[in-house]
Amino acid sequence: MTTDASWVESMPAIYDRQLGPALFGPFAQHLAGVAASFEPARVLELGAGSGIATRALRRALPMAEITATDLNPAMVAWGAEQVTDVTWAPANAQELDFPDACFELVVCQFGVMFFPDKPAAFREAARVLVPGGRMLFSVWDAAEASEFPAALVAALHAVLPGNPPDFVARVPHGYFDPDRILSDVEAGGLEPEAVEHVVLSGRAQTARSLAEGFCLGTPLRFALQERGALEDLAREVGEEMTRLLGEGPIDGESAAFVVTARRPN
Ligand SMILES: C[S@@+](CC[C@H](N)C(=O)[O-])C[C@H]1O[C@@H](n2cnc3c(N)ncnc32)[C@H](O)[C@@H]1O
Repeated sequence: MTTDASWVESMPAIYDRQLGPALFGPFAQHLAGVAASFEPARVLELGAGSGIATRALRRALPMAEITATDLNPAMVAWGAEQVTDVTWAPANAQELDFPDACFELVVCQFGVMFFPDKPAAFREAARVLVPGGRMLFSVWDAAEASEFPAALVAALHAVLPGNPPDFVARVPHGYFDPDRILSDVEAGGLEPEAVEHVVLSGRAQTARSLAEGFCLGTPLRFALQERGALEDLAREVGEEMTRLLGEGPIDGESAAFVVTARRPN
């Protein structure tokens, strides 16, 4: 079984604390603002992870019924501790256990890239949406378009020359061609409405903490474990990222696409 989409044990906590403010928090605020503009009463979040976008959605939509879901039970358990005023449930985005036409909005922040069959996930979103309901999701642009992931990829090449893991470019930063995205959305039975290119800045405590977040708190961990001692490799990646990004708190810009699609009436 592939480990490309696995978060287990302590990974959700590391991801949440060490990558959240640097990468995911700023985009969560943006996504929640777009979500609020649709004024949905019932919201389903897919791939909600540790609850970073869930918290922003809760604040932006105080009256909405929000159901936050994720594939990995460890993420659901951690997220449910962080954001207590929504309903949490495990769910595979490709096979949702919800009735037809029961949400006005399906949201997913930086989860779609991990779904092996994206049209199947869009088809499921269309099924659970009411006619005229919307799917709103974000995906990262290429790794080189975002400062922290670009430094990570460069550090992995420096630390593991000849055998760097390709996870970062292949999975979280591997689904950014708008034509391909829109064709998958349409294959799932949704009508594309908007594709916005968004660039936002986030802050990491240090390049070392960022490297730990990536190496220990994402599925990159499994690719590193195949190549050597995980803690040693994470430390070396941290040293290399510090050389590239500098000491102390660091600010970095990241780029993403935010896509809105609608279930036809
Ligand atoms: C990069 S994290 C994003 C988490 C959160 N939305 C955020 O913005 O911080 C990707 C999430 O997608 C989840 N995921 C991966 N494959 C999935 C699937 N087939 N169905 C539902 N969730 C999935 C993972 O468990 C992980 O929590």
